[in-house]
Amino acid sequence: MQVIKTAHELSQALAQQNAIAFVPTMGNLHAGHIQLVELAKTKNACVVVSIFVNPLQFGANEDLSKYPRTLEADLEKLKAAGADVVFTPSEQEMYPDFDASSNNTHQSITINLPSVANELCGAARPGHFSGMATVVLKLFNLVFFNGAKTRVAIFGKKDFQQLFIIRDMVKQLNLPIEIIAGDTKREADGLAMSSRNGYLSPAQKLEAPRLYRALGLLVDAVKQGRTDFAALETQTTQFLTQLGWVVDYISIRSAETLLPATNADLKLVVLGAARQGTTRLIDNIEFTLKPN
Ligand code: PAF
Repeated sequence: MQVIKTAHELSQALAQQNAIAFVPTMGNLHAGHIQLVELAKTKNACVVVSIFVNPLQFGANEDLSKYPRTLEADLEKLKAAGADVVFTPSEQEMYPDFDASSNNTHQSITINLPSVANELCGAARPGHFSGMATVVLKLFNLVFFNGAKTRVAIFGKKDFQQLFIIRDMVKQLNLPIEIIAGDTKREADGLAMSSRNGYLSPAQKLEAPRLYRALGLLVDAVKQGRTDFAALETQTTQFLTQLGWVVDYISIRSAETLLPATNADLKLVVLGAARQGTTRLIDNIEFTLKPN
């Protein structure tokens, strides 16, 4: 496994590769990430993983400085999983005008996203998805455009809105890249694996799977025929709030457009974001209704 820090070395390492399967990450890898690497391994391609905590997608009051950085352990996990190349650029490598004293990327050309990026997670995290999409496009440029003809990028379904936005960006910008979605990996109690779970206290960790269970109850209610989506969202929000959660949103949406669900939609997704203390957890469940 090659560990590469610069764009120049990366282009040299990938120049002879015909097929690349790419898994972008921010490190602090858990079994959910490794499952994405395993999916990449099935593509018969050179498996490239990036580890980069992207300042551009963190708001001023977010956890950029305390975001867990565990490079040595990550590299061991990636080696065991069979990754071929790991790209671990510095901030200066990704953002040539980066100012370390203020964490300012000085990236003045960014991806302008449709309004869906300001909803759900985007409502609580202004600019987050534009920063995410911008770095993903930069990584795509560095990883894919060294001669490879087959280009696959893999993203987890846990970040459903992120996946939706990336697919839309690839479509609207005509990027010759196939996007593949990997399933959410869960703990035995249902909690979706996330690097942020490490912030939870033991008591919060016990409570955390309730978000997934609450979304599951909502799915059951819709499957049983309830169509009063707004009331269901409010009910679930109140239920979690009574148990001490601070809910950002609970929302039933079309899985195809990410617009608020209507009675005509059959492919649905229920998404939620809520805080245990200062830790913000997100989760979602996709489901399909039978036509009447
Ligand atoms: O999902 C993540 O870890 C990040 O948003 C990504 C896609 C690596 C971009 O920084």
